[in-house]
Amino acid sequence: MTNFSLNLKPKEEIYNIYIEDYSLDGFKSKIREVIHGKKVLVVISDKVNKLYGKKIFPLVDSGEFIVYKYILPDGEKHKNFKNYRRILNFALKNGLTRKDCILAIGGGVVGDLAGFVAATYMRGIDLVQVPTTLLACVDSSVGGKTAIDTDFGKNLVGAFYQPKAVIIDVNFLRTLDEKQFKTGLGEVVKYAFIEKSCRCREYENLINYINENFDKLMQRDIKVLKHIVEICVALKISVVEKDEKENDLRRILNFGHTLGHAIEKSTGYKKYTHGEAIVQGMIFAFELAYKTGLIDVNYKFAARDLISKFNFRPVKMPNMKKLVELMKLDKKATSERIVFILPKDYGQVQIREFTPQELLQP
Ligand code: GLY
Repeated sequence: MTNFSLNLKPKEEIYNIYIEDYSLDGFKSKIREVIHGKKVLVVISDKVNKLYGKKIFPLVDSGEFIVYKYILPDGEKHKNFKNYRRILNFALKNGLTRKDCILAIGGGVVGDLAGFVAATYMRGIDLVQVPTTLLACVDSSVGGKTAIDTDFGKNLVGAFYQPKAVIIDVNFLRTLDEKQFKTGLGEVVKYAFIEKSCRCREYENLINYINENFDKLMQRDIKVLKHIVEICVALKISVVEKDEKENDLRRILNFGHTLGHAIEKSTGYKKYTHGEAIVQGMIFAFELAYKTGLIDVNYKFAARDLISKFNFRPVKMPNMKKLVELMKLDKKATSERIVFILPKDYGQVQIREFTPQELLQP
């Protein structure tokens, strides 16, 4: 059993992140252990419900608590105001109080949306995250970012709201479709390039671990997957503990995301997965760092080698002027400058700002 804890010291707010290769009984008893209150609203992805619903429910055999289930269709387009309102109304209709709990079972869409409901329902009720995609395991379920999308862009309405616990059962990753698995791998690669800058006590050398266990990783060997998730979660904890609200260090988790988000937006969030877009963002960041003199050609090629091993679907770069306009709207941008996280050495990144003109230079 791997048990991490995330400690937001000034607030004395601590929660556990359990990472395990659970048996079904173990998984259910862990959920029962972390849930408090009389009523539990489970927000679950449609796909996960179809694959695992019969095994997961009933969550409890006796009347320990009452479970209400809200099934959310899959896809980013459902992380919207309509479902936010529907879930709130569902909770209100069923009389959930502040002492009850929301359990989010699914990928980033479920976690972000259910998390934002939890953050705002009666000014906040307990939230437990059960991520079932690689991306949600290594990134979105940990650290308290919750949000919904708007007509003006992704995640523009949300809150920092930490869960009471995160339960990661790596067995869910066995049935993940290839596209979802690959998008999560994009985030894993990101951690490999920022590892040292995360200032984690242990240095695991994720780049090495990936290289040495590459075939097993692609075959979804459970031990390797579990260890990769453990490393990424430990790195994320280290960053979030130092900068919960993304004033400084947490910005490094956006490596590859400045351009990646612009690519996703310019193609209507339909053409490329998040992972494919941020991988292109990382390739761009390596190029920019090389041009700026931050890294040498050896590191640039070593990074390319690692990325190309994964065979991510290549992105056809949209027009750069259009991308720059979109990057100006990035949450990290200031009125004059666009913020990039750039590599500066193996596993290390730094924050740099560029004017739109600088980015448009050939
Ligand atoms: N996904 C980036 C963060 O949690 O800050």
